[in-house]
Amino acid sequence: MYENEDTTVSRYDLLVVGSANADLVVGVERRPAAGETVLGSDLAVHPGGKGANQAVAAARLGARTALLARVGDDAHGRLLLESQRAAGVDTGGVLVGGAPTGVALITVDPSGDNSIVVSPGANARLTPADVRAAAPLLSAARVVSVQLEIPLDTVAETARGLAPGARLVLNPSPPAPLPAEVLAACDPLVVNEHEARFILGDGAGATPELWARELTELGPRSVVVTLGAAGALVADTRGGGSVHVPSPAVEAVDTTGAGDAFTAALAWRLGLGEELPDAAAFAVRVGAAAVTKKGAQASFPTAEEVSAR
Ligand code: RIB
Repeated sequence: MYENEDTTVSRYDLLVVGSANADLVVGVERRPAAGETVLGSDLAVHPGGKGANQAVAAARLGARTALLARVGDDAHGRLLLESQRAAGVDTGGVLVGGAPTGVALITVDPSGDNSIVVSPGANARLTPADVRAAAPLLSAARVVSVQLEIPLDTVAETARGLAPGARLVLNPSPPAPLPAEVLAACDPLVVNEHEARFILGDGAGATPELWARELTELGPRSVVVTLGAAGALVADTRGGGSVHVPSPAVEAVDTTGAGDAFTAALAWRLGLGEELPDAAAFAVRVGAAAVTKKGAQASFPTAEEVSAR
């Protein structure tokens, strides 16, 4: 048992089980097509990875946050750990070694849109056994958030290891076929258009409202469809139908990590007891703030910055 662990009170608002990558970022006038070479800006190296991004975003907002992840015993791993600690994330669950730290190769165009290729490295070595060994962390979290830059078996083990009453938030990115037991544990499943279409396949309806309804029919207790600048659509099987949550208009500089900031904010506020539409209304403001600055973790706002916008 962890020091000071109280099994009746959650020690963490949010536990993120996920990836940590060094983001190697190049600005380009135009993202290259197949077979094309383009020149870009000087290389920038930022801490990233969907899991690590969510942990930093939540902690910066004020959530008591822990991260279960794996990084390499290398300079990129140290960069990632430093960023987590600077944000106030509990890194006791970050495992070190086994493979080089994951790397994301990212191009960003002048509209702020990006293309990303991830080399998973140590992320692919975060195993179901690692999740079982971290049982004290899972039992101390009221919300657990996962993404798909770690093995699917590890995600499934996380869903099985939730504390009674704890909530699982899954962003299936990059998308992969999801086992029924994982879909059934999601509350919510958070998808963008691409991920919704992947999961629903050829039978996907024509609108976000239809995707939300079709996705809930696959098992999740709730679904959030992110719509970029248009905000998000939320649907809860416990009632309320589907609700559109608009986003504030902002000038996008770099969208990298904005979805992670959105999901982290949503997960935190749900854990505080907010209803899904209210939590999503806060999360779209966090995501909107995140696109106004370069980089992933460097762009995430504090709660004061969100209120001030
Ligand atoms: O969601 C953005 C993240 O995706 C980047 O930080 C990159 O590491 C990839 O994982």
